[in-house]
Amino acid sequence: MKAFIFDLDGVITDTAEYHYLAWKALGEDLGIPFDRAFNETLKGVSRTESLERILRLGGRENDFSAEEKELLAIKKNEHYVSFISKITDADILPGIEVFLKELKEAGYKIGMASASKNAQTVTSQLGLLEAFDHIVDAATVIHSKPHPEVFLKAAEALRVDPKECVGIEDAVAGITAIHEAGMFAVGIGDPNVLTEADIVFENTARLTLEKLLVRI
Ligand code: G6P
Ligand code: MG
Repeated sequence: MKAFIFDLDGVITDTAEYHYLAWKALGEDLGIPFDRAFNETLKGVSRTESLERILRLGGRENDFSAEEKELLAIKKNEHYVSFISKITDADILPGIEVFLKELKEAGYKIGMASASKNAQTVTSQLGLLEAFDHIVDAATVIHSKPHPEVFLKAAEALRVDPKECVGIEDAVAGITAIHEAGMFAVGIGDPNVLTEADIVFENTARLTLEKLLVRI
């Protein structure tokens, strides 16, 4: 293995919770309440595709014009941006800074594969821009996870063969994307949800290079 490619939301910091709260509020405004189990299917999925999935859940996929959908997505993002405006380095998930340091010292390349258009802002607020050799610009990615595009772009930018990359994800769609890219998949979260991952750590505090090296 030569490179580690991280998802952002739910792996580096707990913004997955803020995405959930912002979508949930929009869903309730639209008369489409949903629970955490449905939210699992939104994790890692782009803004426009997430909105489509919520509208489909409520049987309202034909109720809005393209312009109206655009406004709904903007409304969700404004809510999300108000949450992330307060993020600091105190919001980096436990163990992540140590793990990034371990990887750098061991000579691995480090990338980020996030589908979020807010990824640069969040990473900057966490004070972690320097920790990554490359962050894929979500604006250049056409296909949402589970498509492998974002992971393949990260590997290409790092100049590493996908087979020599480890991807780290908290989303079911993300684990699929990692495997479709031909990479080793590390899941962060519930092993009963991330059943396809090659190895699962229940939280980031348990993630260490030592534990991974015996498996990859
Ligand atoms: C990540 C998150 C998703 C989010 C997507 C788009 O993949 O896991 O929950 O919908 O990014 O984020 P954005 O900030 O562009 O709306
Ligand atoms: Mg995620």
